[in-house]
Amino acid sequence: MKSSIVSYPKRGSFGNNQYQGNCTGKLIEDLLKEFKPKRFLECFAGGGTGFDVARSLGYRNSVHLDLNDRFGGFNLLTDEIPIGADFCFSHPPYWDIIKYSNNVWGNTVVDGDISHISNYDDFIKNLDKINAKIYASLKNGGKHAILVGDVRRNGKYYSIQKDMCWIGEPYDHIIKVQHNMNSNNKNYKGSFTPIHHEHLIILKKNQVWNIPLRITKFITCDLLNSLQVTWRDLIQAVIQELGGTATLKELYQKIENSAKAKKNTHFKEKIRQTLQIHTDFMNVERGRWSLSEV
Ligand SMILES: C[S@@+](CC[C@H](N)C(=O)[O-])C[C@H]1O[C@@H](n2cnc3c(N)ncnc32)[C@H](O)[C@@H]1O
Repeated sequence: MKSSIVSYPKRGSFGNNQYQGNCTGKLIEDLLKEFKPKRFLECFAGGGTGFDVARSLGYRNSVHLDLNDRFGGFNLLTDEIPIGADFCFSHPPYWDIIKYSNNVWGNTVVDGDISHISNYDDFIKNLDKINAKIYASLKNGGKHAILVGDVRRNGKYYSIQKDMCWIGEPYDHIIKVQHNMNSNNKNYKGSFTPIHHEHLIILKKNQVWNIPLRITKFITCDLLNSLQVTWRDLIQAVIQELGGTATLKELYQKIENSAKAKKNTHFKEKIRQTLQIHTDFMNVERGRWSLSEV
């Protein structure tokens, strides 16, 4: 690729431009021209974009898989990937933003259609399962390019590329500018920045047996248990928790339980000193403090 940012304002004529969530074939064309795989596999082949590109470049042995009938009702969660490829392009659903079976194609919801998984964590688990199968099927030295988009729902940002497991050695991370806005971008209201990019994550299989995994773990820690936190941070947190002001007694009571205070017998003096020297805090009445206005 010529740059880590790619942009294809016109999608070109590969595939079916009426197939919702389709991607430009020009990206797949560039990838095939760069990597020149002998065996090309496309997963989530959708409306046939990758198929058309492969045929136009003279591939006769490429394999294209999708749950829809055009590509044999192939379920990537349960069916065996039939080849060992040296390059796989995959373009999974962006969570359930566009539902495929019973919407884009067919009249019923088909088992295994990951676009019908409404729970985000379950969606990621199933995507990871498919990506693990793709990785295992690759020849050593092979690459898997995954095109994914981030999603905003009810004001919350979901980054699929961050939350999915990276299986293999990171080879490239390319930002693709998104030109044809779909329902993904109608899902926000107000002051949020519209999402105008997608991620192309390229992972390489460098070892026959060992599987390098980069896993995102979501945990919530308590600021009170942190030793990195400053006295200023702790005081600010107490004042905010109490709705805007706090007395010295309240500050002592709350901060007494912090890991930092447990290591400092003079924590009350530290609190008083911090209140005095920091312009972030304002004395509103005797013994009561708030955050400064600016
Ligand atoms: C974003 S679309 C791919 C669009 C395609 N790149 C194109 O340009 O037309 C995602 C595809 O995932 C397919 N899909 C969802 N769950 C699947 C599964 N378990 N196995 C195989 N395909 C699945 C849907 O049928 C849909 O075609």
